Amino acid sequence: MPCLNNSARTRRLFFALWPDAATRECLNKALRGIVPAQARATHSDDLHITLVFLGSLDASAQHCAEQAAARVPALVPTLVSAEPFTLTLDTLGHWQRPRILWLGTAHCPDALLALVSGLRRALQPCELKLDERPYQPHLTFARKAQSAAALPALGEPIAWPVSSFALVESQPVRDGARYRALTTWPLAASG
Ligand code: 2AM
Repeated sequence: MPCLNNSARTRRLFFALWPDAATRECLNKALRGIVPAQARATHSDDLHITLVFLGSLDASAQHCAEQAAARVPALVPTLVSAEPFTLTLDTLGHWQRPRILWLGTAHCPDALLALVSGLRRALQPCELKLDERPYQPHLTFARKAQSAAALPALGEPIAWPVSSFALVESQPVRDGARYRALTTWPLAASG
C-alpha cells in the first residue's frame, strides 16, 4: 500500500467572514425562498463572505497563513475596538460568468477594506499568489443561476456585526464544495 506523505497534503483555504449563529439565522430567513428553481442554493451552514482566497496550501503554507492572521490586529490597529463593525447586506445581484447569485452591500465599511488589506499585507511573507482584482465583498447564495430575472426584492437589510474572521477549508463534494471554519481570530483586543 502506498504511504501517504502528510507534508504533501494540501487544503483549499480562504479567509472569510463566518457568521455567528444569529446572523446566520437572519441570512437564512432573508434568503429562504428566493433561490430560483434551476439554481443550486448554497447550504445554509456554508454562507460566508470571502476576504482573501488562498488556494491549495500545504501544511507549512497553512501555518504561515495562520501566523499572518494572528498579526492582523497589530497591523491594523484601527480594527481593534471593543465594538464590532457592522456590515449591512442590502443588495442582491447576479454575475454572468460564474453564474452566481450574491448578496452584497451598497456601502462597504472602511473597516472591512482595512481588514482585507491588512490580511493581504500580513500574508506577504507567505509568498502566495493572491487575486489582484479589486475586492468586491459578496455572499454567494446560489450557483448555476442563469440570470437575476426571477429574483424578488430583498426584504429588510441584514446587519452583520463583524467581530472576527476565520480560516475556512473548502472540501469538494459530489456536486460542488462544502466549507468548514478551521480557526477563528477575534478583531477585538482580548482583555
Ligand atoms: P465565490 O462565492 O464568488 O465563488 C470558496 O471557493 C470561496 O472563495 C467562495 O466564496 C469563492 O467566491 C471564493 N473565491 C475567491 N476567489 C476564488 C478562486 N479563484 N477560486 C475559488 N474560489 C474563490
